[in-house]
Amino acid sequence: MSGAAEERRRLRSEIWFNDLDEPAETAVYLERFANYGITRGELQSGRPIIGIAQTGSDVVPCNRHHIALAERVKAGIRDAGGIPLEFPVHPLQETVRRPTAALDRNLAYLGLVEVMAGYPFDGVVLTTGCDKTTPACLMAAATVNIPSIVLSGGPMLNGYLDGKRAGSGMVLWEARRKLAAGEITEAELVDQVFNATPSAGHCNTMGTALSMNSLAEAMGMSLPGCAAIPAPYAERAAMAYKTGLRIVGMVHEDLTPGRIMTRAAFENAIVVSSAIGGSTNAPPHINAIAAHMGVELDIADWDRIGHGIGLLANVQPSGEYLGEEFHRAGGVPAIMGELLAAGRLHGDALTVTGDTIEASYGTSASRDRDVIRSVDDPLMADAGFMVLSGNLFSSAIIKTSVISEDFRARFLGDDGRFTVRAIVFDGPEDYRARIEDPDLGITEDCMLVVRGAGPIGYPGSAEVVNMHPPGYLIQQGVRMLPCLGDGRQSGTSDNPSILNVTPESAAGGNIAIVETGDRITVDLVNRSVQLEVDDEEIERRWGDLRQTIPVSNSPWEELYRAHVTQLADGMTLGFAEKYHDVGRVKPRH
Ligand code: FES
Ligand code: MG
Repeated sequence: MSGAAEERRRLRSEIWFNDLDEPAETAVYLERFANYGITRGELQSGRPIIGIAQTGSDVVPCNRHHIALAERVKAGIRDAGGIPLEFPVHPLQETVRRPTAALDRNLAYLGLVEVMAGYPFDGVVLTTGCDKTTPACLMAAATVNIPSIVLSGGPMLNGYLDGKRAGSGMVLWEARRKLAAGEITEAELVDQVFNATPSAGHCNTMGTALSMNSLAEAMGMSLPGCAAIPAPYAERAAMAYKTGLRIVGMVHEDLTPGRIMTRAAFENAIVVSSAIGGSTNAPPHINAIAAHMGVELDIADWDRIGHGIGLLANVQPSGEYLGEEFHRAGGVPAIMGELLAAGRLHGDALTVTGDTIEASYGTSASRDRDVIRSVDDPLMADAGFMVLSGNLFSSAIIKTSVISEDFRARFLGDDGRFTVRAIVFDGPEDYRARIEDPDLGITEDCMLVVRGAGPIGYPGSAEVVNMHPPGYLIQQGVRMLPCLGDGRQSGTSDNPSILNVTPESAAGGNIAIVETGDRITVDLVNRSVQLEVDDEEIERRWGDLRQTIPVSNSPWEELYRAHVTQLADGMTLGFAEKYHDVGRVKPRH
């Protein structure tokens, strides 16, 4: 090596392309990569080689425009002196993958770890958007720990129905209720749902996609302002270019996920999650990323750190507006600026810019107080998740920001306490088959309970806990009933369900022995949910229980079920949590 080459830090990719001790292997690496036009000179120049993890494809339409955006990322990487190499990520399309895209989050994670560590990348641009793409990418970045930056794809444009904003998901939940009440036909339901999808991009509500991309930014993993730019906007392509430019600098600075995603960054994510009315899927995903980063974070932290934060973003399902207004009002920078001004964030945490959160967001503020409120004047005080426990489960969450006035008045009373009669369903098929059965005698005093919907039971954990009441109750004006389940629900749902029950029925949770007609007492002040059945009876029911867990239908389902942790713990592959710095170990030839 020349003196000049010794002075600059040797890049990871040079293990492949500049290993003078192994000329035969090096020659093979060089000749194959050169066969689509990258010259040997470029590959041996010591310029950073940047992977672009491509999550968009024909089967992931929420992220499909990343195929075009990647061209702008590549231009940025080139202009900063790097060499871009795009590669595919296992598809994760929330709306289409059966039985659920959640099953594949960990599969995409595994694949990403191997690709990021096993190929000659010095850094990686993570293209994110649709729900599970963001956590899968960040979990892998945490495990591999080479410089990584998130480029989100952005929400789609606003949808409208009868002149009113029609948000992704929201329109479906409302149409489902109207169909059950006989207010619309099946054909009308389909038409209404189409109104909510006017352009490329991910869901335009504060569902799991916009929540997770906002939290990726809040944790410092994307450039400031990235998360909320709508997919079709010119700014989105400009952000792609700037992200490409920046990752090259991050490689030279060795600015790794481990330096950015610290405990402080995760605490910031919890605070921002409350302020935006974030998805109920955020806790399992953020806890999974933390587990892979080796940062202590547990489900109780969400209530302890997050519950006391007010709702600032007036965005559906907790509020009124959609992604376009959220972006115009300042997006995540405005939220961060408002929270910083009130001393609610760790300002010293780093971002991908190399600057602190304080330096990156300290001067940002809301540009429209109707859409993004100040900390002193929130839409709702104490809007974060409550974490509940009791004899039914060790933990479950409830999203405070979607508890409506109507729901409060009907069920909660003054003391946040109510007792209901359980109507139990074994999985979503059982719910769909029996919800309109008059023999169930469902009244306003009931709680709909679904089980067999957890990570092991389903498998993958189904988004089914937001169950609508039978049609006759909806006709009487009861548009929601309290719901409880060991599955998840869509981040776009406005149902204040008690969900993500841990442990699930298939893992021995007491939700398995609840019977229709049992009484359940919910006490939100004391964070407790109590099945009004004594311990002896619970034990007797366990003795009698013949639980049927569906068989695995594929090798991956079997592997997943053998290792998956519970929702409170992020439904990771438990054994994978011990692997760290995988991309910082020199791989064998
Ligand atoms: Fe893909 Fe909502 S379904 S973002
Ligand atoms: Mg979903």
